[in-house]
Amino acid sequence: MLRASGRRLGAAVAPAVALAAALLSSLARCSLLGPSDPVASVLSPYFGTKTRYEDVNPGLVLDPEAPRRDPELLEGTCTPVQLVALIRHGTRYPTAKQIRKLRQLHGLLQARGRGSAGGRDLGAALADWPLGYADWMDGQLVEKGRQDMRQLALRLASLFPALFSRENYGRLRLLTSSKHRCVDSGAAFLQGLWQHYHPGLPPPDVADMECGPPRINDKLMRFFDHCEKFLTEVERNATALYHVEAFKTGPEMQNILKKVAATLQVPVNDLNADLIQVAFFTCSFDLAIKGVKSPWCDVFDIDDARVLEYLNDLKQYWKRGHGYTINSRSSCTLFQDIFQHLDKAVEQKQRLEKFSNLLPVFSKSQPISSPVILQFGHAETLLPLLSLMGYFKDKEPLTAYNYKEQMHRKFRSGHIVPYASNLIFVLYHCENAKTPKEQFQVQMLLNEKVLPLAHSQETVSLYEDLKNYYKDILQGCQNSEECELPKVNSTSDEL
Ligand SMILES: *[C@@H]1O[C@H](CO)[C@@H](O)[C@H](O)[C@H]1NC(C)=O
Ligand SMILES: *[C@@H]1O[C@H](CO)[C@@H](O)[C@H](O)[C@H]1NC(C)=O
Repeated sequence: MLRASGRRLGAAVAPAVALAAALLSSLARCSLLGPSDPVASVLSPYFGTKTRYEDVNPGLVLDPEAPRRDPELLEGTCTPVQLVALIRHGTRYPTAKQIRKLRQLHGLLQARGRGSAGGRDLGAALADWPLGYADWMDGQLVEKGRQDMRQLALRLASLFPALFSRENYGRLRLLTSSKHRCVDSGAAFLQGLWQHYHPGLPPPDVADMECGPPRINDKLMRFFDHCEKFLTEVERNATALYHVEAFKTGPEMQNILKKVAATLQVPVNDLNADLIQVAFFTCSFDLAIKGVKSPWCDVFDIDDARVLEYLNDLKQYWKRGHGYTINSRSSCTLFQDIFQHLDKAVEQKQRLEKFSNLLPVFSKSQPISSPVILQFGHAETLLPLLSLMGYFKDKEPLTAYNYKEQMHRKFRSGHIVPYASNLIFVLYHCENAKTPKEQFQVQMLLNEKVLPLAHSQETVSLYEDLKNYYKDILQGCQNSEECELPKVNSTSDEL
C-alpha cells in the first residue's frame, strides 16, 4: 500500500509526506469499509438480484487498491487499448412497492396480538423490529452502494493502470440510465477514481470533474422501455409470466407459506407468496444496506431460501433472460453500440501505429480518444445482453414444475447480476502478431473474473473471430425491426 501510494505521488515527494498520505488514505479507506468481517447470513447466497457483490466475489473488497494481476488476463506483448464496462448500480433501497408490501406484513404482525407461546416468539420480535424503510427511499442508491462503486473504481484502476492513467482521466466517457441510482453510481465511481489519483483530497463535485458528469441515455441503458414488442408481449402481458404465478401457488411455495404462518402465528390465509418474498428480501436489505442480520433472516432456512431464489430467477428468466427471444433481442442496440466503440478503437489504433512508423517522434503508446467507456444501468440491462450473447442458457427452460431438476441450473441471477455487477470488454493490441488479424484480441470479464467466450470457451479471442461469431446480431438485428409489433395495422407512432 505504501509502495503503491508512493508510486502515485511520484518519486519527487518527500518520504514523510508519502507516508502521511498513505496513512490518510488507508484511514479513509478503512472507515469506508466498515467491519472487515461483514455480517453474513446462511441465506446470503440465495438473494438473487439482491445479492451483495462481496458475497459473489469474496476476497475482492478488503484492499481495493492492492496491486492485482488476474493470471488469466492477457499480458506481455499485448496491451489494453480500450475498456467498455457495463455496470449495474450499487446497493439500493427497496422500491416503494416493496416497502408497501413490507408495511402490510408488518401491520399483520402488529395486529396479531402477543403470541401465546412464551419464550422466543419471532412474530413478536418482528412486530417490534423497526420497519426502517420509508416511501421516499424508493430504490435509491444507499451509502453502501456508493462504496460499492468507489471500490469497483479503485479495483479496476489497479487492474488496468494504463487505461485508468491520470492522463486518461479527461478522456473517460460515462453514460447512464436516467434512474437516480444509476446516475449516482456513475458519480460515486468517479469519486472513487478521484481518490485513486489524489489520495487524501476530497473529490470535487462531479460536474466539475474533467470528464464531466455521466450523460443520460435511456435508449441504450433502458432499451427495454423503448421496445414496443417487448412491452406488449412481455412487460404488459398478464400471461407472459405464467410460470412465476404458477410457482407462487405451487407445492414448494405453499409449504413455505404454511411453515411461516405457523412460525409467525398468523393465519395462513393472510399470507401470500409476495409477502413471503418481501420478508425474505427484507433480510437481504437489512444485511446489504445496514450491515445487520435482522430477525427477518430467522424466518427462513436454507431450503426455503433455495425455493425463494428460484422464484426470483423464474421472473428474471421469463422477463429478462432466455424465456422469450424478444427479451434478449431488445438489447441488440446496446450490443452493437459496444462493438462500434471497439471498431472505432481498432481503426484509431491502426492509424496511430501507421503514424508512429512514419514519424518515430509520434509515440506508439499514444492513447486513443476514448480508452475507457463506462455505462451505468440495471440488472435488466445486463441479463438480456448476456442472454443475447448465449450465456447462462440451460438445456431446459425454467418452469413452475421443474424446480428440482433445475437445482444445478446455470441461470442463477445472484451469481450473474448482484449489486454492482459488471460486464467488461477489453480490447488488446498485440505487438508480435504474425498477421494483422492477430493484432487485436478481446477478453470479457464478468464481475471482474474472466468470462470464457461463448464460441470457444477460451479466455481470449481474436477480435475478428468474436465479431464473426456474433455477425448475425451485429448485422441482422435492428431494434427498429426486432421491436416492431407483428402486423399491427395502425398508424405507427414515433417511439
Ligand atoms: C402473452 O404471452 C403469452 C405467453 O407467452 C402469449 O401466448 C401471448 O401471445 C402474449 N400476448 C400478447 C398480446 O403478446
Ligand atoms: C394496413 O392495411 C391496409 C389495408 O388492408 C394495407 O393496404 C396496408 O398495407 C397495411 N399497412 C401495413 C403497415 O401493414
